[in-house]
Amino acid sequence: MTEPKFETLAIHAGAQPDPATGARATPIYQTTSFVFDDVDHAASLFGLQQFGNIYTRIMNPTQAVLEERVAALEGGTAALAVASGHAAQLLVFQALMQPGDEFVASRKLYGGSINQFGHAFKSFDWRVKWADPFDPASFEAQITEKTKAIFIESIANPGGVVLDIAAIAEVARRHKLPLIVDNTMATPYLCKPLDHGADIVVHSLTKFMGGHGNSMGGVIVDGGKFDWSADDRYPMLSQPRPEYNGIVLHETFGNFGFAIACRVLGLRDLGPAISPFNAFMILTGIETLPLRMQRHCDNARQVAEHLRGHEKVSWVSYAGLPEDPGHAMMQKYCPKGAGAVFTFGLKGGFDAGVTFVEALELFSHLANIGDTRSLVIHPASTTHRQLSDEQKTAAGAGPDVVRLSIGIEDASDIIADLDQALAKV
Ligand SMILES: Cc1ncc(COP(=O)(O)O)c(C=O)c1O
Repeated sequence: MTEPKFETLAIHAGAQPDPATGARATPIYQTTSFVFDDVDHAASLFGLQQFGNIYTRIMNPTQAVLEERVAALEGGTAALAVASGHAAQLLVFQALMQPGDEFVASRKLYGGSINQFGHAFKSFDWRVKWADPFDPASFEAQITEKTKAIFIESIANPGGVVLDIAAIAEVARRHKLPLIVDNTMATPYLCKPLDHGADIVVHSLTKFMGGHGNSMGGVIVDGGKFDWSADDRYPMLSQPRPEYNGIVLHETFGNFGFAIACRVLGLRDLGPAISPFNAFMILTGIETLPLRMQRHCDNARQVAEHLRGHEKVSWVSYAGLPEDPGHAMMQKYCPKGAGAVFTFGLKGGFDAGVTFVEALELFSHLANIGDTRSLVIHPASTTHRQLSDEQKTAAGAGPDVVRLSIGIEDASDIIADLDQALAKV
């Protein structure tokens, strides 16, 4: 057979008919634990001499299919599925950082990530330094001898801007740092960061990958190319692990050592496992990812085109519009479409934003993106409320900003709902 294409991988990668029952859909292995063959078998599983299921916090057959599928779609060597996108970020940094270490992150990120990095991570003494997403040199300017990684979103939430991944990857490469890309908004259907020089990809699977707004999940994809043993900066990977009889994870597991470290140290000890049921739901969602994403993008472009001509709208920021400053970047990194999430400005500012979201009928007013349904939020009064005014504006969440996540309903119904709500503003 020829090399399977993306659409084929989305349905088949990692899955086979169930060896025990012949079930064609991947079964939900709803069990906490797995029986050992004998004592030697148990010992070799615990000692990492043999791969196998022990306990669902660490590994489970339903999760394993999801992991193999996402790794195949992103072009990575291995993946680790976890309970949420935030859990994925936590485990990635836990594998890289020691107390007092720093990382450089794009200023345009999902508000929850800004909080996680700027506040929660402080209790581990992991320090974030912010950089201008449009200026790769500003990432370089923030690097010190304590820096352990660079973090960006491929398409930033909520602004919908596409970052110059290759240019930022070049900065990371020059300083021997891994580039971590949150690919939630693009999904591998639109953009594969590993092809542009990223080293690790993370996702909130809760969004477009699962796609139906019904299950939480996250994933870490190991790009397999970063040399964790080049120096002593990443001891979790390059130094003997006392909990595993002195194994050096990078040496033993080579190009999937990072995914193993996140599983056998981070997930094992911190515990944010994905449930088998949620892994099954997300796996089912991924089967239709290419169809859904294309429809999301096509609908979003039509809506953005409509809004940019509307008298109540002061600006539309959607990289899919030819006049948008981000259009060239979108054509380079996401040629099939600019995604489904974008922002626009309402004349009338904060109050107009509140009136507008409350008047919408088809749209659901909630804090999520990447559902089949069209979603709306006014970030300044909700997701980004905790940020200072300066951080809000820097994150693209000023008082007049409305964020849309365009669903896969009929585009004319979506536009009609926006029009009736705009008429009330
Ligand atoms: C771009 C992005 N990254 C990460 C997250 C966090 O994911 P989760 O809510 O699954 O923890 C979100 C959530 O909205 C997101 O939009």
